Amino acid sequence: MSLIKEIDYGTPAVKSEKMATLTIDGVEIAVPEGTSIMRAAMEMGTEIPKLCASDSLEAFGSCRLCLVEIEGRNGTPASCTTPVAPGMVVRTQTPRLKALRKGVMELYISDHPLDCLTCAANGDCELQTQAGAVGLREVRYGYEGANHFDEGKDESNPYFTYDPTKCIVCNRCVRACEEVQGTYALTIDGRGFQSRVSAGQAEPFLESECVSCGACVQACPTATLMEKSVIEIGLPEHSAVTTCAYCGVGCTFKAEMRGEELIRMMPYKDGKANHGHSCVKGRFAWGYANHRDRILNPMIRASIDEPWREVSWEEAIAHAASEFKRIQATYGRRAVGGISSSRCTNEETYLVQKLIRGAFGNNNIDTCARVCHSPTGYGLGTAFGTSAGTQDFDSIDDTDVVMIIGANPTDAHPVFGSRMKKRLREGAKLIVVDPRRIDLVRTPHVEADYHLPLQPGSNVALLTALAHVVVTEGLVNEAFVRERCEWSEFQDWAAFVAEPRNSPEATEKATGVPADLVRGAARLYATGGNAAIYYGLGVTEHSQGSTTVLAIANLAMATGSLGRPGVGVNPLRGQNNVQGACDMGSFPHEYPGYRHVSDDGTREVYESLWGVEIDHEPGLRIPNMLDSAVEGAFLGIYIQGEDILQSDPDTHHVAAGLKAMECVVVQDLFLNETANYAHVFLPGSTFLEKDGTFTNAERRIQRVRKVMSPKNGYGDWEITQLLSNALGFEMNYAHPGEIMDEIARTTPSFAGVSYAKLDELDSVQWPCDEAAPEGTPVMHIGGFAAHKGKFVITEYVASDERAGPRFPLLLTTGRILSHYNVGAQTRRTENVAWHPEDRLEIHPHDAEQRGIADGECVSLRSRAGETTLRALITDRVAPGVVYTTFHHPTTQANVVTTDFSDWATNCPEFKVTAVQVSRSNGPSDWQESYRKQAEHSRRIGQTVEAAE
Ligand code: SF4
Ligand code: SF4
Ligand code: SF4
Ligand code: FES
Repeated sequence: MSLIKEIDYGTPAVKSEKMATLTIDGVEIAVPEGTSIMRAAMEMGTEIPKLCASDSLEAFGSCRLCLVEIEGRNGTPASCTTPVAPGMVVRTQTPRLKALRKGVMELYISDHPLDCLTCAANGDCELQTQAGAVGLREVRYGYEGANHFDEGKDESNPYFTYDPTKCIVCNRCVRACEEVQGTYALTIDGRGFQSRVSAGQAEPFLESECVSCGACVQACPTATLMEKSVIEIGLPEHSAVTTCAYCGVGCTFKAEMRGEELIRMMPYKDGKANHGHSCVKGRFAWGYANHRDRILNPMIRASIDEPWREVSWEEAIAHAASEFKRIQATYGRRAVGGISSSRCTNEETYLVQKLIRGAFGNNNIDTCARVCHSPTGYGLGTAFGTSAGTQDFDSIDDTDVVMIIGANPTDAHPVFGSRMKKRLREGAKLIVVDPRRIDLVRTPHVEADYHLPLQPGSNVALLTALAHVVVTEGLVNEAFVRERCEWSEFQDWAAFVAEPRNSPEATEKATGVPADLVRGAARLYATGGNAAIYYGLGVTEHSQGSTTVLAIANLAMATGSLGRPGVGVNPLRGQNNVQGACDMGSFPHEYPGYRHVSDDGTREVYESLWGVEIDHEPGLRIPNMLDSAVEGAFLGIYIQGEDILQSDPDTHHVAAGLKAMECVVVQDLFLNETANYAHVFLPGSTFLEKDGTFTNAERRIQRVRKVMSPKNGYGDWEITQLLSNALGFEMNYAHPGEIMDEIARTTPSFAGVSYAKLDELDSVQWPCDEAAPEGTPVMHIGGFAAHKGKFVITEYVASDERAGPRFPLLLTTGRILSHYNVGAQTRRTENVAWHPEDRLEIHPHDAEQRGIADGECVSLRSRAGETTLRALITDRVAPGVVYTTFHHPTTQANVVTTDFSDWATNCPEFKVTAVQVSRSNGPSDWQESYRKQAEHSRRIGQTVEAAE
């Protein structure tokens, strides 16, 4: 394996149908009009020396190294900023140009430390390369003049350093921060010789606006901005392309290695989801893979009060299998089940559902999508016939109006958030529907045209009010609806939304949003050009989550905002493979490809392939498994890569359910909170240690490639296979590619997928079949796939969870950029520097009423429980609303969330909990007891570690 190097064409590609033909160094070439001379030359293999240019940034023209001669023109223009013209004749190598370039380079080098041999970038430095390319052998001016050699380093960022002595002030970092990331954290301070790169108001990077995305580090042509891992370990030797294991954007990276040691994750320019960009998590937060907390040997114990006993893999697997068999023999076939993980690969989730259906003989399989996007599956499946987002991320480039509902892309889907910001800076309009003032409402060079700060729990009322305006003001796209949707259902729906009780004025009391804002936003959405909706868990995690998804679908169909680039309905998936876990049959009522378990034809496919009889009845969902456990009917569970004690609502109930079981098998990287209730612990593997695929939010299937041996001995798919074989249901896959072949053989929407195709195309978006052998970037072009579009009446039913005298505030929850989900991975990285604890955001008015000062410990109480955390006083939240993240286990935010859930899918109502907040002296009783238990578990873990 060698190091993958992508070609840098110097300036971005230009989209133009018109071509221009020119001659460069005697060779004729045709390129799209508007292309720079530099890029045109590179496309024919001629590399013009450059320092300030990079094809991920707009041309800047500051270094003057890329000069060329053009016949008929005076002077030596910069090739990066000069566009081609038909008939142009260009020379890139003449004695005059060589002399000029050498002179420029001499000036740079005269103010550059001559420590190449000991520099961390030695061999990977553009300044060094270009000095060689222009033939610089000596510096006539010497090194004694004015210089910047005494400037101090900024090492405040945990992942990279800024060493100004090496800076050539090329501006690439500043432009990367503006153009690619959209944060505007960097500037060039001073003029002329005094010019220096400065973060924020001349602050250390860590204290500035910088979000540590790494774009500036990647853009820097010298060792000025440099990964600390490279400084500490050295430059990588080889690399492989793989996919980020954090969020549903699915960024592709080159995992750059020395032997089996990961040196850095470099965003892959050809990655179709990220186009070479990254966020702090995927780029830098991979240290958890080597964290000392990782459990590497299997453990068992007879009861949860006993210490863990380290055992061999054979013993652990045999013990788990015999326990599951014993439980089924005693309590019946349906007394056991499993949970698959949206963090694991498609192949691994496929195997878990196969084990449950084939070895356990029931459909008691569920997944963490239950607590996030299950309403998406239900709502979009009902309306459009396919349970997935309709667009690819590139579609945003054709969008004129972006509507974001209950999502916070710059924190939770940061690379797509940056892409969105770019489109908004180009002029697209923005509507934000969110109780909280998320960053996109106002961020450098972006301001929402409408922010509708609705009351938590009133989504359906608001969306129906938007539809009311569309219908009553004649903004329906009737041609689209007549052609693609059930017309009579549309008429019923239109009559319903047009009722006066659904008008913005009538719903204002429930939503808290002024009617004129709703009317303005509806008009903009319906008439502003290509309109696209992006939504997140602020839509789904409600008692009316499925109804809200249906209301979104109604709005998009009524305005004809489907079936072409630039429009659509796009759920932003939280975890890296939540789309894939759902696709792979992780729900108790569906086989892979969303086919119902009662469908005889599909069942026969699996029965004949697997050689077993499969249960006809849908199985239990996670909440039902827990209820059934408390009732004594469900006694064994296999949980792969999930921490339900932390991620699921009503922690007390989850704990009671787990405690009531006789065999809880947890497979994970760390002794997570759920493992406190486990009898068998099977150590899991990281995404770096196995092959497979993830499917991102745009249905894009991408390869995960093994770059190091699993520290625990096995990939997660192998562990499931071992367990299945011990249960007597044989699996004999030699490689995950064989699992994908079985998925393709048995799942129509995956029929054309294979590892060979993924290697060839980098990725494909399902459906991928005979009709679309290279996948489907935009769905529903020309019509909905399965049936005509269905309009469903969305009657608003207020949540039973309401603010009242005892609990007067509404709590809603979300994520922060530096952390991921329950924080199991990111808390074990340097990312804690940005977010060491969860805080409770509270409006100044509510804080004042309660006598709460910023940073003070407060008690957060609901009817379900109580916890304490520190207050953060901010007007990002409206009066009456409080907000927290849930990344730290000691916060125990889910102790206060209730057992209310979506009517159709049981997705918990995480986003609305009536609470009271008051000053507090310290942790709640529950937190204390939890801390003691966690400490006990940690001690046991340490005992095991010490015994090693
Ligand atoms: S790391 Fe990202 S946000 Fe920070 S300065 Fe660099 S480009 Fe800007
Ligand atoms: S830090 Fe790097 S990218 Fe930024 S101006 Fe200096 S040399 Fe250029
Ligand atoms: S945006 Fe998501 S997929 Fe991309 S690097 Fe960040 S966490 Fe990973
Ligand atoms: S690369 Fe063209 S001026 Fe710097």
